[in-house]
Amino acid sequence: MPQAFSSLRINPDRMLDSFTQLAAIGATAGGGVDRPTFSEAHLAARRWFREHIEQNGFEFRADGAGNHSAFLSCGDSSAPTLILGSHLDSVPNGGRFDGALGVIAALEVLKTVRENRISLNVNLEAMDFTDEEGTLVGLLGSAALAGHLRLENLQNPRGGQERLVEGMKRAGLSDESMLSAARTKESLAGYLELHIEQGKRLERAGVNIGIVTAIVGIWSYRLSFIGKADHAGTTTMEDRRDASLGAGAFTLAARELVMRDFSNCVVNVGKMEFAPGAFNIVPARVDVSLEFRSPDEDEFNRLDKALLELAARESSRFGLELKMEFLGRHSPSLMDDKVRAAFAAACDDLGLSHMPLSSGAGHDGQSLADLCPVGMIFVPSVDGASHSPREFTKWEDCVNGANVLLQAALRLGSG
Ligand code: GLV
Ligand code: MN
Ligand code: MN
Repeated sequence: MPQAFSSLRINPDRMLDSFTQLAAIGATAGGGVDRPTFSEAHLAARRWFREHIEQNGFEFRADGAGNHSAFLSCGDSSAPTLILGSHLDSVPNGGRFDGALGVIAALEVLKTVRENRISLNVNLEAMDFTDEEGTLVGLLGSAALAGHLRLENLQNPRGGQERLVEGMKRAGLSDESMLSAARTKESLAGYLELHIEQGKRLERAGVNIGIVTAIVGIWSYRLSFIGKADHAGTTTMEDRRDASLGAGAFTLAARELVMRDFSNCVVNVGKMEFAPGAFNIVPARVDVSLEFRSPDEDEFNRLDKALLELAARESSRFGLELKMEFLGRHSPSLMDDKVRAAFAAACDDLGLSHMPLSSGAGHDGQSLADLCPVGMIFVPSVDGASHSPREFTKWEDCVNGANVLLQAALRLGSG
């Protein structure tokens, strides 16, 4: 890397100004943001991003999957693109940093490169990926860009098809446009993302930067335990076919199973919907939103089998019928060695401590990992809070992360 590059730094005040403007969109009373994919607040954040890109004189790009980006031509026209980015959607009642920090830092890197008139062997793109959080599908924009998206992923999304179709319409997207967003391997030099850790490991270790080694995979199902609606006062306990018993027993048993036999994995029942859903009716049906995560593909297959067997066992124990709907999978992925080395060298040059960390959260990089070199860095989350309005990272740590992102991009782009 040319000597002159190593003294470059992002502008912390300018980045804070952009971050603060964005955090006001969909802001909640608790200090977080509520911007589920294609909600009014999310669409407003997307408009803000577009206007910000254009006001700052960058080329705005949008693809058929609704991924929005700023493009900076700093290599020749045939040079591949190094994408930096994250996402502007949030979980319901989420935090200000998850996703937003990575998008704002990516744009700040482009501003810094442009104002210093730097030429690289790559062009740069600061990207906001569509529906990272999985309100609708999860990693939707990045899967489309990587060419992994299939029509069936849009036909049975975990957020419900009606909601997806309606949301895509509001954003001016369609199934056909979604499937048209794929890019070629040759067009991409890599993907880098700055993100908050969403855990306590960096804070506990007193380390500035986490260099991600691997991202867990995520599989999701809807399990329906089906019994019979009956009068809750007159039906004896023996006579009931109560769907809540299967759902509840399964949830507890799944926790025990994972803690006992799958210590690298996690399982979550994030939602149960009762039908008919009244104080005085024995539940006829409970739909369970099930998600589980593993860093390893073989372990996934074993866990999948074990969880489904467990669901079948608990449902027959209470005389219920079980329906299982598979709602999608995101594979675990390893981060690229060269990108990890570039992040480590950037930290060393900046005098920042660093450590290797795995990611228990899903991220867009896992969609892209078989297409181009991918890497991520984490900055400390105060008290590990995330997917909550309590999410907070000190601005100094955000600035450190953005400078590491800049320096790694310069290294990879000039190597
Ligand atoms: C996204 O943040 C996820 O891991 O669910
Ligand atoms: Mn995120
Ligand atoms: Mn998230």
